[in-house]
Amino acid sequence: MTVPGLPMAVPSRDLPTRVRIHEVGARDGLQNEKATVPTEVKAEFVRRLAGAGLTTIEATSFVHPKWVPQLADAEALFPMVADLPVALPVLVPNERGLDRALALGARRVAVFASATESFAKANLNRTVDEALAMFEPVVSRAKAESVHVRGYLSMCFGDPWEGAVPVPQVVKVCRALLDMGCDELSLGDTIGVATPGHVVALLAALDEAGVPPTALGVHFHDTYGQALANTLAALQQGVTTVDASAGGLGGCPYAKSATGNLATEDLVWMLRGLGIDTGIDLGRLVATSTWMAAQLGRPSPSRTVRALSHEDSEEH
Ligand code: HMG
Ligand code: MG
Repeated sequence: MTVPGLPMAVPSRDLPTRVRIHEVGARDGLQNEKATVPTEVKAEFVRRLAGAGLTTIEATSFVHPKWVPQLADAEALFPMVADLPVALPVLVPNERGLDRALALGARRVAVFASATESFAKANLNRTVDEALAMFEPVVSRAKAESVHVRGYLSMCFGDPWEGAVPVPQVVKVCRALLDMGCDELSLGDTIGVATPGHVVALLAALDEAGVPPTALGVHFHDTYGQALANTLAALQQGVTTVDASAGGLGGCPYAKSATGNLATEDLVWMLRGLGIDTGIDLGRLVATSTWMAAQLGRPSPSRTVRALSHEDSEEH
C-alpha cells in the first residue's frame, strides 16, 4: 500500500534490516554558512531534528574559533541541547578541544583526519602524520573516560588539490585511526567525486585490511548527484551507518568545491522504499528543513524536501 508522502516499501534481500543515520546538519551543514546563524536558531534546529526522530545528532565542533567562526558558540550551544535524549557527538581536533567538550559533559567526540597531505594542511595546519599524532592523546584520554570516539577520514575518494586518491593511501590512515582506539570510522567523500564502483573497491580493500563494514560509516557529499547511489552501494557491502545532513546543508570551509551533504530526507525516502525503517518522521523532518531554509534565506537543495513541501502547499 502506498501512503501519501511516502514511497511504497519493497524490501531487498541484499540489504541490512536497520540503518543508523548520523545527522550532521547542525555541524557540517552550518559550519559553512556565510552568515552566522544565531545560537538559539541552532539549538531549535537540533531540538526539531530530535523531535523528527533522529537519534544521533552531531551538535557542533570545539575547534579554533578563528578557523570556523560559524561554530564559535559551541560553549553556549551545547548546554542548550544537552538534555535531549539523543547522542550528541561533537568534533574535537586536539586536547584543547577535548577539554572544552568534556567540561560540558560531552560523551561522544570525533577526531577528523585526512587521507591527503593537502587537506590535512588546509584543515588542520598539520601533515597527515602530525595530525594523527595530535589525535593520539585525544583518543586515549577519551577512551579512558569511556567517551565514544568516531574517527572521520576526509578525501577518501578525491581531493581538490591532488586529484584521485589511491585506495591504499586511504586504507593506511583508516588502520591508524582504528589502531589508535577509535570506536568507528566515517569515510568522507568531502568533494563528492565518488562513484559506486569506487566505493565497493575501497570497502573491499578495507575489509581485507581488517576494517569490516560494521566498523564504518559513510559520509557522502552530493556534488555530482552520486550520494544516494554511493550509499546504496555501501549498504549492499554491509555498511549500516550513514551520515546525512537535514535539507542537504553543508560543505567544508577548507575544501573548495565541497557542496552539500547527502540530504537526510532523500536518504530516508530511499530507505523507506527499501523497507528499512529508521524511526524518522519524514513529514516532521521536511518541516524542520523547510523552517531552517527560511532561517537561512534560501530553499533546500534536497529533492525530497522540495517535492514534499510542494505537495504540502498544493494540499493547502
Ligand atoms: P593551529 O593554528 O595550528 O593551532 O590550528 P595551534 O595548535 O598552533 O594553537 C594555536 C592557538 O589556538 C593556541 O592559542 C591554542 O590554545 C588555540 P594561543 O596559545 O596562541 O592563545 N587552540 C584552540 N582554541 C580553542 N579550541 C581549540 C583549539 N586548538 C588550539 N580546539 C587547529 C590547529 C587544529 C586548532 C585548527 O586547524 C582547527 O581548529 N581546525 C579545524 C578545522 C575544521 O573544523 N574544519 C571542518 C571540519 S572537517 C570536515 O568538515 C570534514 C568532515 O565533515 C568529513 C568530510 O566531509 O570529509 C568531518
Ligand atoms: Mg562533510
